[in-house]
Amino acid sequence: MAYPGKGKWKWKCMRYLALIFIMTLLFSGFELSRIGNSKSGGRQQKFHYLALGPAAGQGLPNRIQCQGLNAIKKRPLPSLSGLTLVNRKISFVSVFAIYNQSLQTSVQRASTNVTVGNTTFDKIGRSMEILNVFANFIKVSMPKSNIFILTDATSNFPAVPSNAAVMHIPGNYSRNNLMLQRIKSYIDFLEARLSGNIWKQNQVEHFIFTDSDIAVVDDLSHIYEDYRDFHIALTFRNNKHQPLNSGVIFVRGTVEGVSKAKAFLEEVLEAYKSMFMKAARMLGDQLALNWIVKSQPLFDVKRFRAPKAFVAEVHRTRVLFLPCSIFNWTPPEGAGQFHGMPEDVKVIHFKGSRKRLMLESWNFFKSHPVDFSDMMCLILKSGRTKYDF
Ligand SMILES: *[C@@H]1O[C@H](CO)[C@@H](O)[C@H](O)[C@H]1NC(C)=O
Ligand SMILES: *[C@@H]1O[C@H](CO)[C@@H](O)[C@H](O)[C@H]1NC(C)=O
Ligand SMILES: *[C@@H]1O[C@H](CO)[C@@H](O)[C@H](O)[C@H]1NC(C)=O
Ligand SMILES: *[C@@H]1O[C@H](CO)[C@@H](O)[C@H](O)[C@H]1NC(C)=O
Repeated sequence: MAYPGKGKWKWKCMRYLALIFIMTLLFSGFELSRIGNSKSGGRQQKFHYLALGPAAGQGLPNRIQCQGLNAIKKRPLPSLSGLTLVNRKISFVSVFAIYNQSLQTSVQRASTNVTVGNTTFDKIGRSMEILNVFANFIKVSMPKSNIFILTDATSNFPAVPSNAAVMHIPGNYSRNNLMLQRIKSYIDFLEARLSGNIWKQNQVEHFIFTDSDIAVVDDLSHIYEDYRDFHIALTFRNNKHQPLNSGVIFVRGTVEGVSKAKAFLEEVLEAYKSMFMKAARMLGDQLALNWIVKSQPLFDVKRFRAPKAFVAEVHRTRVLFLPCSIFNWTPPEGAGQFHGMPEDVKVIHFKGSRKRLMLESWNFFKSHPVDFSDMMCLILKSGRTKYDF
């Protein structure tokens, strides 16, 4: 057995040929719809205009199918389909800090300006626009919900979306501390809720803690009805090292739910502080979250392999695990497998270098605001593009 048999070589050859074939398809098929000039950003090209490629997942079942920028199957907007009949109050909570040092220290460079549709945003403007678009999506998909924006003691918002309120929670919101501060602010928020310092009302109010670079494209209120026994819900994907994402967290608004969720986040904060302070500034909270969950002796990590919701007890808290593919969908980065966009996706996360795509998506929806279906084709066709902000 010094050398592989003929059959094995043949098989290898075929695999290489198949690979070359796929690569050729990828590169030849990558038609760019040009709405500006391209800019080479070093190793990986980054775009400052909307760049579209082929849509993944075509022909696969339960995936969004597109003809150009037209979705073949239309999905009615939740507010129009009458799904929002539940009279339960659900609020979004998001940490948002304004960074304006760069304006004071350097002359505004042309490259930091961003033009989407007819509007040009400077550095602060584009970050405020992320917040606006986040709020706008919620106005459409969950019109009865509002947003609590948690921020530092001094931030002055030039404008606050009409469905949002700013809450100042003192802390260190500097970039390098933001992920740690975010957990602290969530805890303080839940504490304020428990102690009755805010919104003394008898109505149960559920909370969804999210990043602000997400688009809610469907009504999420049914989560609390469909799964009646969780305190806190997290989103997971099939990723060995980082199965949990901290970008979308549901909390049941009962006294028990809020206190258990708070205790859970306190455990995460402790793990963060004691073990993951040196982690890259964006990852500490996720590493801590993973550690807390995986350190449960009875927890079966194999359950992360299938995108199916399940409940597990973690630190005396009942945690609902929801698949990222529906509740926190983001196109995989780099060369990961990409099977398209699930038809029933509810939350789209514009992580990393996709922020501009979030603004472009809203701009696209605004121009024909019938439903989100066609916009999802735009996102699907552009999900692999890296943008310059
Ligand atoms: C950037 O945009 C702002 C408006 O948002 C404008 O006042 C400023 O002149 C622009 N800067 C450049 C270099 O184009
Ligand atoms: C944007 O510009 C185009 C043409 O330049 C114009 O037709 C359109 O009305 C503008 N849209 C808005 C919202 O101003
Ligand atoms: C910018 O920063 C200064 C000092 O840090 C602060 O006083 C000011 O309110 C900030 N501006 C905005 C728009 O947040
Ligand atoms: C905030 O946190 C950062 C990163 O840990 C640190 O460098 C900075 O000194 C802190 N700022 C204050 C005011 O504590």
